[in-house]
Amino acid sequence: MANSLLKYYFFTCPSKYKSMSAQIISGKAIAEDMLNGIKSRISQRLSAGKRAPSLAVILVGGDPASSIYVRNKRLACEKVGINSIAYDLASDIKESELFALIQKLNEDDTIDGILVQSPLPPQIDEKLIIEHISASKDVDGFHPYNIGRLAVRQPTLRSCTPFGVIKMLNSANINIKGLDAVVVGVSNHVGRPMALELLLAGCTVTCCHRHTKDLQGNIARADLVVAAAGKAGLIKGDWIKPGAIVVDIGINRLDNGTICGDVDFETAKERAGWITPVPGGVGPMTVATLMENTLLAMELRGV
Ligand code: GUN
Repeated sequence: MANSLLKYYFFTCPSKYKSMSAQIISGKAIAEDMLNGIKSRISQRLSAGKRAPSLAVILVGGDPASSIYVRNKRLACEKVGINSIAYDLASDIKESELFALIQKLNEDDTIDGILVQSPLPPQIDEKLIIEHISASKDVDGFHPYNIGRLAVRQPTLRSCTPFGVIKMLNSANINIKGLDAVVVGVSNHVGRPMALELLLAGCTVTCCHRHTKDLQGNIARADLVVAAAGKAGLIKGDWIKPGAIVVDIGINRLDNGTICGDVDFETAKERAGWITPVPGGVGPMTVATLMENTLLAMELRGV
């Protein structure tokens, strides 16, 4: 059903019909399709005698969550035919040593993308490291140049999670132009570029953060909620406007080991029109978009 029709249905039908369960957006399935597309683009390149893209993936220390994320990224590279070069560095590495490695990778013409997994240990200034990565190889889309390009409506390499969300909504045929969107969480890597992506897509955007006076009231007015606060259960299901689109970027590990998002999924899905699950929602889109960015970085450099 078209987006506008579904909204009409939710806002005009008697309340007894409004408890219809939300459509679940499977980021996992959409990401699989994306990966297959990237794989065939890369094999076409190889058939034309060009080389495969290459991604340097730098992991500092052995943080368990970071190790899992990095493993997933390296596995995705393998799947699509991107050459991933692993740098697993000791947690006590000096900032100057990491700078030197990035410099070497910046200058290496056979490297198309450079990713430094965050968080980094305290002796390393993450902002300086990100700025040291060549903007043309910044496949995470974290460099101030790339964030600035997005801010002035000339996106180049776009932050993987926010861009992945836009791609996911497009693939699900959900039209967000003109919607009132609320982004919860304003981190440099996710919330802020997410707000810029939504603005670019024609939404009216509100950003909520720790100083926001009325989080519930803002969410209750939103046609589209994007949760990126990193707090399990922060957003209650009965705050959601009936029929709204709910995108949950949070990945939180509970004491019992299970993974959940920032939104109370079970109650929210009874009110939302569309909702993403955690896991299996935005996470796989982030990885697929990283693969696409790596191929794009290579193409933009004319390799
Ligand atoms: N840490 C958590 N998510 C990410 C990501 O998408 N990129 C990097 N570089 N570090 C992360």
